[in-house]
Amino acid sequence: MTDATVIFTPSGKRGRFAIGTPILTAARQLGVDLDSVCGGRGICSKCQITPSYGEFSKFGVTVDQDALSEWNAVEQRYKDIRGLIDGRRLGCQAKVMGDVIVDVPPESQVHKQVIRKSASARDMVMDPATRAYFVTVEQPDMHEPSGDFERLKAALAREWGIADVTADLALLRRLQPALRRGEWSVTVVLNKGNHDATHRILDIFPGFHEGALYGLAIDLGSTTIAAHLCNLSDGAVLASAGVMNPQIRFGEDLMSRVSYVMMNEGGDVEMTSVVRAAIATLASSISAEAGIDPRAIYEVVFVCNPVMHHLLLGIDPVELGQAPFALAASESLSLDGADLDITTINPAARAYILPCIAGHVGADAAAVALSEEPNKSNDMVLIVDVGTNAEILLGNKTRVLACSSPTGPAFEGAQISSGQRAAPGAIERVQIDPVTKEPRFSVIGCDKWSDEDGFAEATAQMGVTGICGSGIIEAVAELRMAGLLDQGGLIGGPDQTGSARCIPEGRTHAYILHDGTAQGGPLITVTQGDIRAIQLAKAALYAGAKLLMDEMGVEKVDRVVLAGAFGAHISPKHAMVLGMIPDVPLDKVISAGNAAGTGARMALASNSARDTIEEVVRHIHKVETAIEPRFQEHFVNASAIPNAVDTFPELGMVVSLPDVSFNTSGAGSAGRRRRG
Ligand code: FES
Repeated sequence: MTDATVIFTPSGKRGRFAIGTPILTAARQLGVDLDSVCGGRGICSKCQITPSYGEFSKFGVTVDQDALSEWNAVEQRYKDIRGLIDGRRLGCQAKVMGDVIVDVPPESQVHKQVIRKSASARDMVMDPATRAYFVTVEQPDMHEPSGDFERLKAALAREWGIADVTADLALLRRLQPALRRGEWSVTVVLNKGNHDATHRILDIFPGFHEGALYGLAIDLGSTTIAAHLCNLSDGAVLASAGVMNPQIRFGEDLMSRVSYVMMNEGGDVEMTSVVRAAIATLASSISAEAGIDPRAIYEVVFVCNPVMHHLLLGIDPVELGQAPFALAASESLSLDGADLDITTINPAARAYILPCIAGHVGADAAAVALSEEPNKSNDMVLIVDVGTNAEILLGNKTRVLACSSPTGPAFEGAQISSGQRAAPGAIERVQIDPVTKEPRFSVIGCDKWSDEDGFAEATAQMGVTGICGSGIIEAVAELRMAGLLDQGGLIGGPDQTGSARCIPEGRTHAYILHDGTAQGGPLITVTQGDIRAIQLAKAALYAGAKLLMDEMGVEKVDRVVLAGAFGAHISPKHAMVLGMIPDVPLDKVISAGNAAGTGARMALASNSARDTIEEVVRHIHKVETAIEPRFQEHFVNASAIPNAVDTFPELGMVVSLPDVSFNTSGAGSAGRRRRG
């Protein structure tokens, strides 16, 4: 026998190879995805495979015990030092001796599929832009003079088929010592972005470099900056961390930051420098948390709204504050990390910023689209990413629309009298008994409800300190369901509601949710002002969704996806009682968690994901809320709870809202229950 059949699973690729061909070579010739960093020298162990023995009628082959060459000393040495799962072989050492079936386990695949855990999530395939390659470079020869860099390039072409390679001056300065220290063998870290024709050398190590390569996926929000530290070969998240965006001191929301720039010469430079400094600090603290060297971070992917995008890049955002809201650049950007002053990571690291959809709809919305794939949906899906600004996407396979709506920070607990961020002691869940009008609630950090035994003891230390975003939504919705709040958003007085918890406050009323004053704690109320703030926020969100539905020509949607950290905590029923989202069956409202962050991680892990989102964004149609007269009309209607004109039949099947009115200046219905 001079040759034999080799069949690879799971790909099913097969071919005939000369006896003695290494499995790694066979895999390369067939285009089978089998990883290797050391190029077959038996030192990286990336090429592990599992042969199967016996008769396989499905493939029409019988695999004998000696179908592969014998276990060799290189494999034994690797197993002794690092361990190797029983049955595994190193693909570069095992040679074809007869017909054989070879399984390539996921960890040996470069383009491995990563199974995402959450219910709504789709799997994704790794396609890293940055990888390490081990090469042996020819030594210089006086008689055939050539540069060390040229011989390194020749080695990369010879051993890896990589033809187009560049290096910057800083790297060239390190090249000669590395080659000589490694005795002409080096590991180079190469990056090839999705638009690059060339591979850039980001780093070089003498000999074989064991260390993993890392990347940061950063969701740069107006309020917080969240980062995930990921391994670039398998996408695993080693650590996640967040810090407040220090730009808050220049303005809470986006437009106030744009105004700061307009009114203060050099304001944009100031904001750019504080946010860059915060990112650099976050990169070093997250590395410390994960116990890795920050210089092993070679890539950073950013998702952000357009104003954050410009301020990160050092571009004056003034144009974004006025029609026609022109972006300086809307397509994706690939840059040097150093251009963004990320001084704490590898100095040659690359940065990729997802494309923006339009002047008000940024790379964060693009990341949500990458993660949630509305463009692949069979049914009509509405995706809302709730933050200081709501990003809204509506669509299906045929068409996807997007807009953003200025909800303001009320949903995050800001502008609420007893509001606070989601932290221990914050009320997060609320129920109000429709008969007694008495509340019960739970707080973050304690799994008991406030009327359960042991609640007081369990919260004695941290106290009951305020209401967070999800808590205020539930509180307002529960007030409405208990008949303490009317459709127009007025809280009834004690005589109108029969509840002593409704106390006068100026010419309006407030509802006492928790009175901790006897224990030296706060009096936590929901005031008329709080209701107004929530009404404005939820009306903006709903009006944005309605505008997209108008544009799409649909009266209803099939599914609602709540994205964002906040979306993960919203109760669908309460959100619908408020009229934040259109009427759908409650089980069709799902939370997608931090979809923008997930999109950032996908773009970090995969060049093809970058291609995909760039293509998808080109086809997303942007709807501008700021200049659309119908937005105002929808907004006014949506200020009522749940809505002045739209009906909520699905909601009506699970909740009946009392028809009360507390408008004493109205046409005679003061404090009277109208129709039960
Ligand atoms: Fe590196 Fe086989 S390719 S050990």
